[in-house]
Amino acid sequence: MKKALSLFLTVMMMVLLAACGGGGEKKAADAKPAEGGGEEQKDAIVIKFSHVTSADSVKGKAAQKFADLAAEKTGGKVKVEVYPSSQLYGDKEELDALVSGNVQMIAPSVTKMVKLDPRWQYVDMPFLFKDREHSLKFFQSDLAKQLLNGEQLVGNDIMGLAFWENGFKQFTNNKKPLKAPADFKGLKFRAQAGKVLEGQFKALGAGSATIPFGDTYAALQQGTVDGQENTYNNMDTQKYQEVQKYMTISNHGRLDYAIFVNKSFWDGMPEDVRTKVEEALKEATEYEWKLAAEDNDKSYENLKNSGKMEITELTDAERAELEKALQPVYEEFKSVITPELIDGIKNMK
Ligand code: LMR
Repeated sequence: MKKALSLFLTVMMMVLLAACGGGGEKKAADAKPAEGGGEEQKDAIVIKFSHVTSADSVKGKAAQKFADLAAEKTGGKVKVEVYPSSQLYGDKEELDALVSGNVQMIAPSVTKMVKLDPRWQYVDMPFLFKDREHSLKFFQSDLAKQLLNGEQLVGNDIMGLAFWENGFKQFTNNKKPLKAPADFKGLKFRAQAGKVLEGQFKALGAGSATIPFGDTYAALQQGTVDGQENTYNNMDTQKYQEVQKYMTISNHGRLDYAIFVNKSFWDGMPEDVRTKVEEALKEATEYEWKLAAEDNDKSYENLKNSGKMEITELTDAERAELEKALQPVYEEFKSVITPELIDGIKNMK
């Protein structure tokens, strides 16, 4: 009898332990990956891919494309599970989750890598990129490769594999149309991360608060902040037009992504399988670059046609005035981001 009881208890313990596996993923219990097609093998290598935007955003669609391509090219040996909308981890947690191996892949807006390497804030430097071609050129440059393989990243068991695009940021707010730098005075904006964005708003006489993407809609709705800056596609897929009255088309900064993996996991994949996954990522990246431009155009139309936001277009002179007002950001941060990177991007041919 005693023996049977002890056997029963042991079995119960094992069942419980198995159910609690995958330590650290508190939110993971309810999270389900987005649906994907393709073959799948029972003992497939699982890549958990966590991100914060919605499944129908540029990043969400491209992540799913990558999942489908990886399944197809590896004949189901690799299963990419995409977790959109901060379902698994939000802005604050996803980098730590990657370092600790609780997820294998993330695609943050690059400025959020400031925690590990402040140079990633290059993307926030006001008016640094002339147009989207400039940004795409940078993605393919040696400077970009150096960032992806930065020693602070590798020292944390992370490596970058590719750049994904989103687009130029525009300002929105709930108080008034923003045309001149003086209009920003006294307003409070949501920022993604880092000192550069804080400095940008400060240069305009505005305040800012770092708020995770997943909490931003509520912060705008509740008036915790008056405004924010983002791409057309992020605003549209988050429905910011419901909670923001004014948008200024300023194209003052970029919001782009990089794909990061847990290095031990990546290096530990059988080489032939990894090669196929790399092929899938290359194709997904080409798809993403095209999609980003198309979907941002569509999202602009959606925002405009919603009739819910008053749109202000800046003249060249007004843009120049804004650029001038933001010069202090260069004085304060050029040394942190490094002259090599800033001048390298500026002079990119
Ligand atoms: C944001 O926080 O506004 C963006 O970084 C979200 C994203 O991933 O595009």
